[in-house]
Amino acid sequence: MKFLTPRLIKIASLIKDDEEIVADIGTDHAYLPIYLAKGHKVKYVYASDINKNPFKVAQQNVKNFGVSDSIEVINSPGLEWTLERENLIIDCCVISGMGSTTILEILKKDSDKINSYIISSNTLVEPIRKWVKDKKFFIELEVLVEDNGIIYEIIKVNKFAGKKIKTKSQTCFGPILMKNINQLFIDKWVKEKEKINKILINLPEKDKKKKTFKKQLKLINKYTNKEMSQ
Ligand SMILES: C[S@@+](CC[C@H](N)C(=O)[O-])C[C@H]1O[C@@H](n2cnc3c(N)ncnc32)[C@H](O)[C@@H]1O
Repeated sequence: MKFLTPRLIKIASLIKDDEEIVADIGTDHAYLPIYLAKGHKVKYVYASDINKNPFKVAQQNVKNFGVSDSIEVINSPGLEWTLERENLIIDCCVISGMGSTTILEILKKDSDKINSYIISSNTLVEPIRKWVKDKKFFIELEVLVEDNGIIYEIIKVNKFAGKKIKTKSQTCFGPILMKNINQLFIDKWVKEKEKINKILINLPEKDKKKKTFKKQLKLINKYTNKEMSQ
């Protein structure tokens, strides 16, 4: 499947061989589930989307690629549909291509039916890592991938094993990514700094958000300057 983006290919690569039942929340075109089913990488995929249009497109794509036996397309918000089903176990649940606020809203319906998550947000991952920390879950994997000029953080959350998030820096940069600083990591945070600086210039001095952004910038500066000078 040539149309799968580098980000989606990376996500697919993080699904382990023994993770046979997968869900893709916010599937849109269902390209990821089709790729997984076509490659026989998984046994069964639930592909869900909140909106009618993507749901219909996903249904059609699944049919066209001849993988209807191994993919169920569901029209439902977030994880709502998982709560209604008995005896459901999802080895790995992918939530990607949305902002962290939407992803956190979806994660409110997390349950014992889901063993792990692969999360790729369009915005900063820090609030998701905070959720992982609060739930006492673990970070199993973290990778960066560049796709169409944007550097994405992809994290795999495991409920039973992996790295614990303990510090503020780990919540911001990722406990695994922090240990493997590379050029992509530096580039990502230099870009984030530029974005925050632009926002700060346009915010009035009295705006409450200014303090939060300044704190964020201080942490990024502290960490990236230290790493870049090594
Ligand atoms: C930009 S697409 C992402 C497609 C694919 N997951 C990816 O990573 O490239 C976002 C999709 O998420 C769906 N979506 C947004 N909020 C959702 C929610 N709460 N539950 C399920 N799907 C949602 C949208 O309808 C849209 O199809």
